[in-house]
Amino acid sequence: MAAVKACNILITGANRGLGLETVKQLTEDSCPKRHIFATCRDPEGPKSEALRELVKKHPGVITIIRLDADDPSSIKESAKKVGSLLGNSGLNLLVNNAGIVARGTIQTSSAENMKNTFSTNVIGPLLIIKEYLPYLQTAAKASGTPGMSCNKAAVINISTVGGSISTMPSLFSQFPVLPYCVSKAGFNMLTVLAADELRADKILCMALHSGWVKTELRREKALHFFPHSELQGGDVLRNVN
Ligand SMILES: NC(=O)c1ccc[n+]([C@@H]2O[C@H](COP(=O)([O-])OP(=O)(O)OC[C@H]3O[C@@H](n4cnc5c(N)ncnc54)[C@H](OP(=O)(O)O)[C@@H]3O)[C@@H](O)[C@H]2O)c1
Repeated sequence: MAAVKACNILITGANRGLGLETVKQLTEDSCPKRHIFATCRDPEGPKSEALRELVKKHPGVITIIRLDADDPSSIKESAKKVGSLLGNSGLNLLVNNAGIVARGTIQTSSAENMKNTFSTNVIGPLLIIKEYLPYLQTAAKASGTPGMSCNKAAVINISTVGGSISTMPSLFSQFPVLPYCVSKAGFNMLTVLAADELRADKILCMALHSGWVKTELRREKALHFFPHSELQGGDVLRNVN
């Protein structure tokens, strides 16, 4: 994570899995002005205990914010709250990490699973980018440096090769999660179109595949084509700048 020098960072789905690990690694960096907005659906609930412990270890560095990617009003409220805490410096880095997986093939995928994966993996990130855009624009303007960088103003969408139209068909038999793959393909298109639209504001947008990491989302038996990494290896933002 040493390459990331962004000051104000927001991560969705930060209470467990890759999101929590990313917050952990960002707090270990020696970046004195850094502030991390770690968002999750249920800040007071049992699934957020590890995140609350991390906040205690790093007082003043992490703020937990409620954000449910399936709930447009919670996205709006979160943006209001973060905006009031950001002041004039803006948001340097928005990491759309929250995501869900649903299994299925053409013959077994349900309308409900398609709707749920689209809601969390595509519609949520779209609304999040929209609500946080003013703060990213502020950061881009405030930076005073040319070009685009995730240390200046950027959106990083945590995607997957499961959303790759060219790669997925050959992997599908070992990873039969059609609703997830179709939603992540949509997420990739969202990233490309956001990159195009936000280029004028000098805001970088990109999608990353984290590699296969053992989390709740990937708890099925190990895939044969790629070994799983342990979570400590899931340095999803390494070398992004
Ligand atoms: N693990 C891998 O091998 C792998 C590979 C490629 C890509 N990815 C991507 O990496 C991202 C993180 O995955 P992970 O492996 O860390 O999964 P995970 O351990 O299951 O964590 C998923 C996170 O997303 C949150 N979330 C789910 N629905 C949400 C919603 N509606 N609103 C807000 N937060 C929500 C969960 O919060 P709750 O605790 O409230 O459920 C949790 O914090 C995903 O986008 C995934 O597609 C993972």
